[in-house]
Amino acid sequence: MPEPLIKAENIKKYFPVKKGLIGGTEYVRAVDDVSLEIGEETITALVGESGSGKTTLGRIMAGIWMPTSGRVLYRGIDIHRDGMKREVRHRIQMIFQNPDSSLNPRMKILDILGEAITEAEPGIKKDELIERATKLLEEVNLHPDHLYKYPHELSGGEKQRVAIARAIALEPEFIVADEPVSALDISIRAQIINLLARIQREHGIAILYIAHDLRTVWNISDYVAVMYLGKIMEYGPTEEVFKNTGHPYTATLLSTAPLLPEEFRKHSLKPIGEPPSLINPPKGCRFHTRCPLAREECREVDMKLIEIGREHYTACPFWR
Ligand SMILES: Nc1ncnc2c1ncn2[C@@H]1O[C@H](COP(=O)(O)OP(=O)(O)OP(=O)(O)O)[C@@H](O)[C@H]1O
Ligand code: SF4
Ligand SMILES: [Mg+2]
Repeated sequence: MPEPLIKAENIKKYFPVKKGLIGGTEYVRAVDDVSLEIGEETITALVGESGSGKTTLGRIMAGIWMPTSGRVLYRGIDIHRDGMKREVRHRIQMIFQNPDSSLNPRMKILDILGEAITEAEPGIKKDELIERATKLLEEVNLHPDHLYKYPHELSGGEKQRVAIARAIALEPEFIVADEPVSALDISIRAQIINLLARIQREHGIAILYIAHDLRTVWNISDYVAVMYLGKIMEYGPTEEVFKNTGHPYTATLLSTAPLLPEEFRKHSLKPIGEPPSLINPPKGCRFHTRCPLAREECREVDMKLIEIGREHYTACPFWR
């Protein structure tokens, strides 16, 4: 992997929830001791079933949420200590699933982009600002007329293009893109993904790309991290993970993924039943209650990630 740009170290995020009528507090262990490194100018996909903790980890790595414990280092700087420094705040951006909730409906696109531009360059003159905003729209293939429109006058895809333009206005080095196309019409998803991939290449940005669609993950990501119930089950270069899959959970995801080339769907593993609660997650291997290959020791032994190939790690010591 190229030099790590961002390192998450032993991140835990436990959300307190009220315990029924009796009272007291329990904790949802949304992220439970996760470490992840993201190299400069690489795309790392974060995949896993709904509720596995992807958004929570993404928001923590973007500096939006505090972890319960652990730390995130950006070029060695702890992004959660003493508030996020301006310089670091600009270098880390997030693109959300739904542009409707991330773009202020009462602001014109010029003002939305202008806010980011002046954040990066306070005191910039009005005409320069308009020029910068126009360039940003060009980068995301939008006509300059859009500067004077409100978000509701734009289509979903156009709004997400504006969200991407706003993110790059601050010249970030790292973007967390949380399912950036899943709220959009299927017909335009590929365009937006291709746009994101082009921007990533041209600007040399590292992206944590949170996704469900494994076909896109295969197309654009350099690395994949597979999450299940708050833990990473497998991590590695995308090609390695897809071709030499190292964890039964990954195999279940691949075998049920639509639109993937047949060679990656060779596994016929299906997970058993439903995911257990994150309040009392299973001891031992997190996946053991649903793993078709589980053995006795899987119930007791806490499975650590082990290296099975170059940069390729799995939390299952048995499958391969
Ligand atoms: N603010 C919160 N308070 C309590 N629990 C929360 C909170 N935010 C998330 N959770 C819980 O944490 C777990 C992980 O949620 P998260 O949104 O990170 O999952 P996800 O992998 O992004 O899922 P999806 O694919 O559906 O987006 C879930 O059980 C969720 O209900
Ligand atoms: S450690 Fe055991 S339960 Fe977990 S994935 Fe491997 S075989 Fe399945
Ligand atoms: Mg999510």
